[in-house]
Amino acid sequence: MASVEEGTARKPSPHGFSSFKCFPGMYPFLLISAALSACGLISASPADLHRRAVTQLSAAELARFAPFTQFARAAYCGTDILSDWTCGEACEANSDFQVSLVGGDGDAVQIYYVGYSPSLEAIIVAHEGTDPTQLESDLTDVDIPLATLNSTLFPGVSSSVEVHTGFQNEHALTADIILAEVKSLMSSVGTNNIVAVGHSLGGALAEIDTVFFRVNIPSANISAMTYGTPRVGNPAWAALVDSSDVNFKRIDNMQDLIPIVPGRSLGYEHPAGEIHILSPGDAVSCPGDDDATDADCQIESVPTIFQGNILDHLGPYEGIYIGTIYCT
Ligand SMILES: *[C@@H]1O[C@H](CO)[C@@H](O)[C@H](O)[C@H]1NC(C)=O
Ligand SMILES: *[C@@H]1O[C@H](CO)[C@@H](O)[C@H](O)[C@H]1NC(C)=O
Repeated sequence: MASVEEGTARKPSPHGFSSFKCFPGMYPFLLISAALSACGLISASPADLHRRAVTQLSAAELARFAPFTQFARAAYCGTDILSDWTCGEACEANSDFQVSLVGGDGDAVQIYYVGYSPSLEAIIVAHEGTDPTQLESDLTDVDIPLATLNSTLFPGVSSSVEVHTGFQNEHALTADIILAEVKSLMSSVGTNNIVAVGHSLGGALAEIDTVFFRVNIPSANISAMTYGTPRVGNPAWAALVDSSDVNFKRIDNMQDLIPIVPGRSLGYEHPAGEIHILSPGDAVSCPGDDDATDADCQIESVPTIFQGNILDHLGPYEGIYIGTIYCT
């Protein structure tokens, strides 16, 4: 049995996204919008009325994601070419990168790499994703167990925090070796900046890295840029990520359905930090955890997986596609 709905009480509209504007519940928001615009707080153009609380990203802000998007893309390349940093466009886009650890096999263990980017002045930790159709079927299965984190790997984290069992098991396979490499690079290069990146399952692993690095390297300045990330844990997990003093951004592309699974009705919640690409060049930053009120954010755009498009999972993330076949 599958959970197809994202998981709220709101019934999916037969007309999808566009009918939301005519939803009677919108009227109070329109009044608030009108009041705010009368005060000069927001633009009054009709097209903007449903952008109640989201913030439009400028072209310059969007462009700043590109190096990290290319790092996430490179994680799908083979370990040999990653070791030589000869993975084509994705590697050339970060040509000064100094790779120091490469591992995994793309099968039992997702491929990962660690290294230092002089131009970004940051240690990059990247995780490979997985076949999106397989991931979709795994994550819409109603039997998706949440479990507390391993207290050796995550010392001091409350037992109310629960994370998808498959994701945390995958993370645990490489946690110790990656942590040792990051600590070693921090001291050899002399930086506190760590950026975890990943797409799909790799995004979930990068999200887990934020808390993993926070509890194990308290002095680090931690960021994560994730792409097409499914939900990873319960509301206590989302709250922990939010309160961990990490710069966390999860970028969702158009009608991708992976970010709406597993459903909230199954006990899952995203942390804050959503950036939703509406179309190339047009993206908004969504407020709060798992924004369910703004029509431009992922939940309202894709109320059920039937309104989603798995191809959008692969991109384009501002011109960049991510997946096994884009490693050239
Ligand atoms: C927790 O992680 C540690 C360190 O990787 C490992 O040795 C231990 O077996 C793990 N415990 C469980 C219950 O998985
Ligand atoms: C933290 O790291 C991010 C990403 O590398 C960087 O943009 C930011 O300037 C860093 N903050 C500090 C205080 O060094």
